[in-house]
Amino acid sequence: MTILVLGCKGLVGSAICRKLLDDGREFIGVSRADLDLMNLEATQSIFKKIKPRSVIGAAAKVGGMVANKTYPVEFLVDNLTLQNNMLKAAFDNEVNRFVFLGSSCIYPALASQPISEDSLLTGVLEKTNEAYAIAKIAGVKLIQSFRNEYKKNWISVMPTNLYGPGDNFDLNNSHVLAAFIRKFYEAKISNSNQIELWGTGKPRREFMHVDDFASALLHVHDNYNSDEPINIGTGNDITILELAGMVSEISNYKFEIYWNKSIPDGTFQKLLDIKKLKLLGWEPSISLEVGLRNTFEWFQKNYHNTRLNVSMNS
Ligand SMILES: NC(=O)c1ccc[n+]([C@@H]2O[C@H](COP(=O)([O-])OP(=O)(O)OC[C@H]3O[C@@H](n4cnc5c(N)ncnc54)[C@H](OP(=O)(O)O)[C@@H]3O)[C@@H](O)[C@H]2O)c1
Repeated sequence: MTILVLGCKGLVGSAICRKLLDDGREFIGVSRADLDLMNLEATQSIFKKIKPRSVIGAAAKVGGMVANKTYPVEFLVDNLTLQNNMLKAAFDNEVNRFVFLGSSCIYPALASQPISEDSLLTGVLEKTNEAYAIAKIAGVKLIQSFRNEYKKNWISVMPTNLYGPGDNFDLNNSHVLAAFIRKFYEAKISNSNQIELWGTGKPRREFMHVDDFASALLHVHDNYNSDEPINIGTGNDITILELAGMVSEISNYKFEIYWNKSIPDGTFQKLLDIKKLKLLGWEPSISLEVGLRNTFEWFQKNYHNTRLNVSMNS
């Protein structure tokens, strides 16, 4: 069965393609250069041509807290449009299986920890990424509606914070871990021991290496069929302060860190409950220490050939 991977040049899409290739499975990866998912006609025509039995929707407008706050219109409109287009094309072209990617950050800001799947829509959202969250929640609801109304075997997954080779390292719109890797590496190569990090360092976050995520996602793709989304994470979290300590140690350089407390922290804790994933027979295998080293080394090697400047207006 041909699996179509949308967003195949992104952090997640490229890891899924690597895993499918390693597993010897039949797939086609499509990037924005091949197809702009904002264009319904073009999306329909690619689906008609490829006739996939299964689709993994790893394309979306993604960014960190500052980008989300600066471009709420783009995060809401682009994500609603591109996800509606991929689901409409999948329906019209009789796609049997669709995996939609939600996110841990679309759960209520004050959800009890660890966050279980049934806490979706039980409280107020985190203000800083509300537009992105509303669009993603609409996607999860659309998947459930296609299941109920048209009996489609489509599912949603809720990934935790992901990192790894190919991440977005633009300081204005990356996630925290990628930003730390870049800041520590650049301070080291410029012989500066001063680093500014945002917030208080107190919030707790869960981080998953994208290769572990790709393995979990394909396990879920093959084995899970329910209208409730399923969390994908490691089940462990650390403080941002501890994360900074780990990146500092891996970079093997002495730093003086200034925590800029004028930048808001965001949700205090976001740890996923991964009971359902474990019951399905999947466990994480890449520790944060190993994953961070792998990503830091990758970043060092690919410094001049990676995503250091990513426009949020495209
Ligand atoms: N990274 C995380 O920590 C995380 C956590 C939870 C959920 N997720 C979800 O995982 C999915 C993938 O995220 P990611 O981290 O891999 O982000 P990413 O690295 O930014 O990849 C997203 C991909 O989507 C493509 N894309 C954006 N707009 C498009 C359009 N109009 N037409 C075609 N392609 C388009 C992007 O292409 P360009 O590069 O050309 O813009 C990019 O290759 C998203 O649904 C995201 O919400 C990610």
